Amino acid sequence: MSEYTLRIRRFDPESGEAAYWDEHTLEMGDKRSVLDAILQVKGETDGSIGIRCSCQQGICGSCGVRINGKPGLACNTHLDTAAARGADTISMSDDEHSDGNVISVEPMGNIPVIRDLIVDMDAVHWKKIRRVTPWLINKEPVPEREYIVPHDNMVDVTQTMACIQCGACVSDCLSMEVDPGFIGPAALAKAYRFVGDPRDAEHQERLKDLAEDEHGMYDCTHCFNCIDACPKDVAPMNQIMRLRRIAGDDYEINDRNNGNRHEEAFVTLIKDYGLLHEAELLPRSYGGNSWFGKFHPDAGKELMSSLGTAIKAMMRGKINPRIALFGHKLPSEDMKAVEQIYNVVEGREKRTELNLYITGWDDEEEHPEHAAHSDAPTPLVPQAAPEATTESETS
Ligand code: SF4
Ligand code: SF4
Ligand code: FES
Repeated sequence: MSEYTLRIRRFDPESGEAAYWDEHTLEMGDKRSVLDAILQVKGETDGSIGIRCSCQQGICGSCGVRINGKPGLACNTHLDTAAARGADTISMSDDEHSDGNVISVEPMGNIPVIRDLIVDMDAVHWKKIRRVTPWLINKEPVPEREYIVPHDNMVDVTQTMACIQCGACVSDCLSMEVDPGFIGPAALAKAYRFVGDPRDAEHQERLKDLAEDEHGMYDCTHCFNCIDACPKDVAPMNQIMRLRRIAGDDYEINDRNNGNRHEEAFVTLIKDYGLLHEAELLPRSYGGNSWFGKFHPDAGKELMSSLGTAIKAMMRGKINPRIALFGHKLPSEDMKAVEQIYNVVEGREKRTELNLYITGWDDEEEHPEHAAHSDAPTPLVPQAAPEATTESETS
């Protein structure tokens, strides 16, 4: 048993009072959960504490909160783990938070608070999930018996099917903080669930819709927060990148937000210069993916609109005019190494993606290294997701 200080963020919007920290000291086993601690305080000291929970087994997704600054499930976070993570997180910025076994619990971010630790999932999370048409639009004709889905396709979508809709990824999404309209990590992972399913009839329509929406899949800034936050390893950011690759490479969807062209510009700039040549990024995204892109009227318009910012950055020493004009110069052996990477990747006949979610032991296939001298099960290497599908392959 250890002594813990539990600090709960209390807030009742109807009271008109500001939010405050409500502190309780309690003795509990280190492997009891943060939810156990909250429920003990609620049961024994203050029944008015607002917390939503159900299964207490990490399954229903209802107890999402921020614990010492990080989103997660209260019911599957041990007290000692929560306390240990405390001192170096953003909630620990004042000294008072960082002593010993202090655990601060707050409602999730990016979602309005109903009361205390309860947030309005309908207002944000479920609204966004509904936005991506979260059901299968089946192909016609419907087979007389069941649809047969290839095993590899099922493996591929299993990762997104593991989502328990807890909202932890939404809570920590940096893009959503800036643009609350962003469809967000959980809903986009849900969209991949159907884009990766060969039974769905509207892959192209779904992708076009998510690409053309100005708050859609190109709004993700690739910050990795949703990957860290997810208690079920759904890795929403990876699903978003898959949506983008399928939309851009397989369906050649060039969205009006320039998301796909912007990504292509990144790829060719690294190929040409070895490092990102930022001054070329905008002209190539708007004016065409080559050095001549800057002469296109659309690129000129965008360049003019960002001229003020560029001049300010130059005056503050944030932009080096020589690098801005001519790009980085890498040694020729480094450029050769970059070229080799591109040759390998672009030389592949088909794009193959690795789904790193499914790991384990395969009893049926015997690995040559094991076969000779062991009865032990064979390690199953990360499963390759099905190769990039095209309209003709899936229809
Ligand atoms: S990677 Fe994208 S979706 Fe995930 S948290 Fe960051 S901005 Fe949001
Ligand atoms: S993707 Fe992960 S963090 Fe996001 S809602 Fe689903 S289970 Fe929760
Ligand atoms: S109470 Fe169900 S996931 Fe925590």
